[in-house]
Amino acid sequence: MSVVVLISGRGSNMQALLDAGLPVAAVIGNRADAAGLAIAARRDLVTAAIEHKDYRTREEFDAALAAEIDRHSPRLVALAGFMRILTPGFVAHYAARLVNIHPSLLPAFPGLDTHRRALAAGVKVHGCSIRFGGARVCHGPIIVQAAVPVRPGDTPDRLAARVLRQEHVVYPRAVRWFLDGRLVVRDGVVSVKGSDAQLVYSDSD
Ligand code: GAR
Repeated sequence: MSVVVLISGRGSNMQALLDAGLPVAAVIGNRADAAGLAIAARRDLVTAAIEHKDYRTREEFDAALAAEIDRHSPRLVALAGFMRILTPGFVAHYAARLVNIHPSLLPAFPGLDTHRRALAAGVKVHGCSIRFGGARVCHGPIIVQAAVPVRPGDTPDRLAARVLRQEHVVYPRAVRWFLDGRLVVRDGVVSVKGSDAQLVYSDSD
């Protein structure tokens, strides 16, 4: 029933998963100094750092990462601000049990710096997406999205904060659906057994 969470930084989404009471078996970072690892350790979780800079190739790093993950035999691997591109072999190994969060309404704004790019594009709605892992960056069937308004005078930081609050709402929800066996993927489209909303809209700050 367990989840292994991969992080690179502050780990606020990891904390949202923990606060939701989800069964997290371990938290693994690709940097020993990831703030989220210290937070997880303080919460008595198993943590590990597999430093990407210690490996010559992406393949070698991903193999070491997979070996560490597989010690826990997780049902689900949840990337929560894990800022490394994963090899197709890694993604295939976890196939339908790899989920990721991205701070935009995919397929808009894949890649980095999403909030600044959203402001520059003048979009009036922005948000985040939880998706299954896909072989290509920022691709994979979308499980749930949260949308927020872009307000006049927004800065990338203000917009990021508004989106992050919704990240913390939808990521635990998606993981819970997965663990409860409620997600169905057909022709690249995800539906949820029962009728929970796969779109959240919040206009509160
Ligand atoms: C989150 O905003 C997440 O959506 C983003 O990194 C941040 C991590 O914050 N992920 C990506 O950009 C992945 N492409 P956190 O460490 O506080 O959860």
